[in-house]
Amino acid sequence: MIEKVNIPEISQKHLHGIKDLTVDDINKILELSNFFKLNNREKDKNYPILKGRTIINLFFEPSTRTLISFEIAAKRLGADVINMNIEGSSLRKGESLQDTANTLGAMNPDLVVIRHGIDNATKQISEILSCPVINAGEGINEHPTQALLDAYTIINNERNLENITVAICGDLEHSRVARSNYYLLKKMKSNVRFVYPEFFKPKDLDKYDVETFTNLEKGITDADIVMMLRIQNERISDMKLPSKESYFEKFGLTYKKLKLAKPDALVLHPGPINRNVEIEDSLADDIDKSVINEQVENGVAVRMACLSIMVK
Ligand code: CP
Repeated sequence: MIEKVNIPEISQKHLHGIKDLTVDDINKILELSNFFKLNNREKDKNYPILKGRTIINLFFEPSTRTLISFEIAAKRLGADVINMNIEGSSLRKGESLQDTANTLGAMNPDLVVIRHGIDNATKQISEILSCPVINAGEGINEHPTQALLDAYTIINNERNLENITVAICGDLEHSRVARSNYYLLKKMKSNVRFVYPEFFKPKDLDKYDVETFTNLEKGITDADIVMMLRIQNERISDMKLPSKESYFEKFGLTYKKLKLAKPDALVLHPGPINRNVEIEDSLADDIDKSVINEQVENGVAVRMACLSIMVK
């Protein structure tokens, strides 16, 4: 039987990015996530503290994990949840983003979850709405709930974030997951490495206090956590990439390369995976090394924690 839990306050009205959160905020979200993780393994997973509340999922880019887990999270908390169909909306008749936000705001939602292709889109929309918003991934800026669920997954596998070495590897240039993880891990005093092929060198690299590597083997040597990133093909138009085979040979994570990391190193990937490009097929599914499915499970708990804290 799951007991009652106190829902903590955090310093922010909106969840735009990890950059805005304090260490105390992050710890409160992670602690509450642990409560919901246990709840989610019960037969009755409902914890209806948001009964009567309305949450809108406004996703301008495709999503499986984030959208479905926000929907499940909202439903388990007892909220009414609407996934707005962008293709079937008046945006396709030319209505502006501002007018769309105004229109949704007039329906009195209690929280809006937004995924968008443009950096700072959630900030712009939050200035129009009076309710809180959560950034569910925008442009190459931030994907804060992904970083929170990654941190939760690491802690839940009996690692302490302080002083562990996390190698974030692959398409650093286009990754909002990497940026949110960077901010979170640095706040929690982890050692962060950016490991990327030269063509994925982040243009804003001077903003980050990290060790950098352009060789995967060197970059993951003695790492506690190897976090592989998806190649963001949808954000790449003016760049000639190597073939998938050549990328995999140089930058794909394999069992052989993983031997260079700590013997108990955990492999993370936010998904969706390009199998045998970013990571060897069988390694991605190896539950003794990869925690990719745990990341997905934990995403529901972390999003339940975020929703229950942010809906007022
Ligand atoms: N990790 C992640 O954001 O996946 P989706 O695009 O499927 O939501």
